[in-house]
Amino acid sequence: MRIALYGFMGAGKSALGRALAQRLNYDFIDLDEAIEKFTNNTITQIFENQGETAFRKIEHLVLKDFIKTNADNVVLSLGGGTIIQPTNRQLLDLRQFKKIYLNVSTPVLIERLKKEKNKRPLLKTIPDEDFDGFITALFFSRQKVYEVNADLKINLHQENFEQALEKLYMHLNLN
Ligand code: S3P
Repeated sequence: MRIALYGFMGAGKSALGRALAQRLNYDFIDLDEAIEKFTNNTITQIFENQGETAFRKIEHLVLKDFIKTNADNVVLSLGGGTIIQPTNRQLLDLRQFKKIYLNVSTPVLIERLKKEKNKRPLLKTIPDEDFDGFITALFFSRQKVYEVNADLKINLHQENFEQALEKLYMHLNLN
């Protein structure tokens, strides 16, 4: 099986994906990490030096390269904006990835992202007083695409990491 985890920044895609892959004995790929390896630049450097449009092109190329490998038994964690691009969704569907939406409520996302604002290129320039509004607006602008493309939607709100992993594993119905 091929699993793609997606959802908003701060939903826990990378950490949960890594732990899920370990539990399933699958390979784990984090798309942001693969982009950083491919470009030998951090995501922040790509945004700062080349802008978001260039980042989206690189993101697509790296996903396409990975899809070409036809890897199986893999958990792939996407970036928060990856699934928004129709061409990226086509690539995932081409290899029948099970697309899993990790849905976390905006108050929880806001609380988490506030602590990591400076590590995230899309957020670091947002003034503190506009932060909640920015996250809420970006989330709602993406919500429909997140919802309609999910093969499986998992609501994660107050769960701690272990509980979230358990919920994810349980919903996959593999045991
Ligand atoms: C982005 C999310 C980030 C990263 C980039 C853009 C987005 O990934 O791909 O900063 O558009 O939501 P994470 O969701 O893994 O933080």
